[in-house]
Amino acid sequence: MSDVDELVAAVRRSSKYGRVCEDAVRGVGERELAKGRRLKDAIKATKKKLHQVGGAYLEGGMDYAAWLDDLRAASGNEGDFRWACAQVMRHHASTKERFQVLDEFYAAVLAGLPPVRSVLDLACGLDPLAIPWMGLPDGATYHAYDIYEDMVDFLRAFMKLTQVRGQALACDVLQSCPLPKVDLALVLKSIPCLEQIDRAAGAQLLDAIDADHLLISFPVHSLGGRDKGMPTNYEARFRELVAGKDWAIKRFEFATELAFLITRF
Ligand SMILES: C[S@@+](CC[C@H](N)C(=O)[O-])C[C@H]1O[C@@H](n2cnc3c(N)ncnc32)[C@H](O)[C@@H]1O
Repeated sequence: MSDVDELVAAVRRSSKYGRVCEDAVRGVGERELAKGRRLKDAIKATKKKLHQVGGAYLEGGMDYAAWLDDLRAASGNEGDFRWACAQVMRHHASTKERFQVLDEFYAAVLAGLPPVRSVLDLACGLDPLAIPWMGLPDGATYHAYDIYEDMVDFLRAFMKLTQVRGQALACDVLQSCPLPKVDLALVLKSIPCLEQIDRAAGAQLLDAIDADHLLISFPVHSLGGRDKGMPTNYEARFRELVAGKDWAIKRFEFATELAFLITRF
């Protein structure tokens, strides 16, 4: 067995990372081994990195089966269904934070766009739970990708309770996710995470995504709640990523998130 195969097997044997898809573990592991680390150290470093980019955002137990029961029970009533979605969104730091501004978030950024019939939500976390707030037309397609197999199984079942035709896939957006042409791509608060793995990730993704509109956002506080000049630094990074592109850009500042809507012609 090669070192990288051993690393992947060891990381996926652990309860915390056992449901992280194989290509994401392999991608991070190969980079750690390439730094010349010994296998044992590379395994440790891979787990640490997966924690930083994924595990650190998961809050409380992820009881997907119980959440699905609650969502199914609530699905006949719009208010109850939104309430059940909100309860689930509290279990991922990103959606928990966005929930404070959710009533304005999608309404503001999607105002003025033609009907969005297809969405690609990359490194989505639990953001698809916000579908009831997005105003998508019946039958819209929604592709949601994250590295957690159990999360995407849940998202697939969840989307059956909504008006969209959902597809959810566990994959590493840095290497192997299909990128269908869509009306709107969402890359919410994940460029900083992905660039911790590969500094070129943001630039490569922006080039590879085939969408008329892209919503890119950045956190304004760290997970620990401190500001650390993040909005200024992330805006500078975003401007670097779009420098020289002939794209229309609208900027939105929310209490919890800085967002940019890119329109390509
Ligand atoms: C900061 S959170 C953002 C979640 C979501 N986009 C939102 O804003 O609500 C980053 C997410 O990226 C996912 N992730 C990290 N690395 C990834 C990769 N290589 N491919 C796909 N998803 C990834 C994590 O599991 C986590 O859910």
